[in-house]
This record gives sequence, C-alpha cells and structure tokens, in this order.
Amino acid sequence: MTFFQVQNLSLSFGGLAALSDVSFEVDKGEIYAVIGPNGAGKTTLFNCISGLYRPDQGRIHFNDRRIDSEKPDRIARLGIGRTFQNIELFVHLNTMENILLGRHLFMRTGLFRGIFMWGRRSFAGKEEITHRRKVEEIIDFLNLQAVRDKPVGMLPYGTRKLVELGRSLAVEPDLLLLDEPCAGMTADEKQDLYFHIHDIRDILGTTIVLIEHDMNMVMDISNRILAVNFGKTITEGVPEMVQRHPDVLKAYLGED
Ligand SMILES: Nc1ncnc2c1ncn2[C@@H]1O[C@H](COP(=O)(O)OP(=O)(O)O)[C@@H](O)[C@H]1O
Ligand SMILES: [Mg+2]
Repeated sequence: MTFFQVQNLSLSFGGLAALSDVSFEVDKGEIYAVIGPNGAGKTTLFNCISGLYRPDQGRIHFNDRRIDSEKPDRIARLGIGRTFQNIELFVHLNTMENILLGRHLFMRTGLFRGIFMWGRRSFAGKEEITHRRKVEEIIDFLNLQAVRDKPVGMLPYGTRKLVELGRSLAVEPDLLLLDEPCAGMTADEKQDLYFHIHDIRDILGTTIVLIEHDMNMVMDISNRILAVNFGKTITEGVPEMVQRHPDVLKAYLGED
C-alpha cells in the first residue's frame, strides 16, 4: 500500500503550466522536501493536494483513497494538514484560540459556544472541554505556554509561525504539508523548528512534506527531495544526489 502518491499531476492557469506531469510518492514516516525557485509550482502542488485547486490532469492517492476531487474540509478530515506560506491566523485571538480554531472540523457545536451557552455538563460543553485538552497538549508540545493567552498579532514572527504549526497539528494529521516553515525566521528559531519537525515525525508519527528554501535545512532534515522548476520535475531522490544534480545547481545558482 502506498501511503501518499501523486501521479502525473498537471495544472495550468491560462497559458501558464504551473504544474506539468509531476509524480512522486511519499512513504509513511518520511520527511520529504520539495525544492525549486520562486514560481516553480510548489505552492500550487500543495493547493492541489489540500483540495484548494482542482488539477487538470493526474491523480492523488492518500491511504489508498483517491482524493484529487475531494473538497478541502474532507481532505483535512481524512488526515492531511497544512500551513501556509503567508501566515493565516486571527491576530486578535490568542494562541490558544487560534489553535482551537484548527479543531473546528471536529466540532459539532459552534466555536467557543459550548460551555458558555450550554454549560459544562451539556454535550456541547463536554465537547469543548475535550477540544481544549487537545489544544493544551499541542501548546505543551510546541512549548508555547508563555504565549498561550497573548493575542497572536503581538507575537514575534517566528512565534506566529509556530502557532500556525500548532493550528495545523490540531487536525491530528497523518500527513502534514509545511509551506516554507522557516521563511523569515532567525537562526535560533530555525534550529527550534528543526527539532519540532523531528518531534512531530518521531513522537506524533506524522509524515511530513515540506517546501523549503533553506538548503542547509533541507539537506539535513529530509529523507528524500523533489526538485521542480517551471512546473516540471528536475530530479527526485536522496539529498546527496539531488544536491549534485547539474540542473538543480543551475536552477539555484543560475549557472549555464
Ligand atoms: N490562482 C492562480 N492563478 C493564476 N496563476 C497562479 C495561481 N496560483 C499560482 N499561479 C502561478 O503559478 C506559478 C507557480 O506558482 P506557485 O505554485 O505559487 O510557485 P512557488 O510556490 O513554487 O513559488 C506562478 O507563475 C504563479 O503566478
Ligand atoms: Mg510558494
């Protein structure tokens, strides 16, 4: 059984082929990286996987189920979480509330309304307590206790990226897609994130696909790498091999 498989994926916008005939597989427990210059089609690939874009051609399988025509909320429920290249959080809500929002997929009653409207012992109240417990676990896991009650808009950029990571964990994903998780982080924050990504894989058992520009990070953290440019696969394989590929060097260093 293949855990996750993308087959011959293509998507054009007008005349522009953002993805053409991209195929790869990810095994359960892998950390798999997607690299390539700006505009290469990396985020488009994530948008296809998470159901925001419908590919023109190709198939996506997850846990032996075809998912390329499913809607985003269904895909999330099936166990695929993601973060966005540009942080998408509610700046006036605090860390805890933003992560709790990540659980809305599982909620039968409206957000924040359970205890308040129906009391602790009602179904809605109990449901909210369960969700809040899960959120507290994530806060502990990512070491966000100190900023638990702070509005996210007041937090440093790197911490906000961690809160967004926390929100993506709230769906308890089997597969997590991280779109440039290190972008804009300081060296210390990157180091921290590096350990968190390992912990997510090793402790939570989540398989990870990440888009990342920091080549040191990519080489260090990933089991395998897919390199793309102009929507096409340049090469795919273990880091040592991808790093030496002439077309990868060309795409990154602009050599002829
Ligand atoms: N919704 C869209 N409408 C039109 N063009 C898009 C859309 N999304 C992405 N593109 C184009 O597809 C190409 C790949 O973009 P993207 O996947 O964001 O690249 P990357 O994430 O690798 O930097 C770019 O030329 C971009 O302008
Ligand atoms: Mg992108």
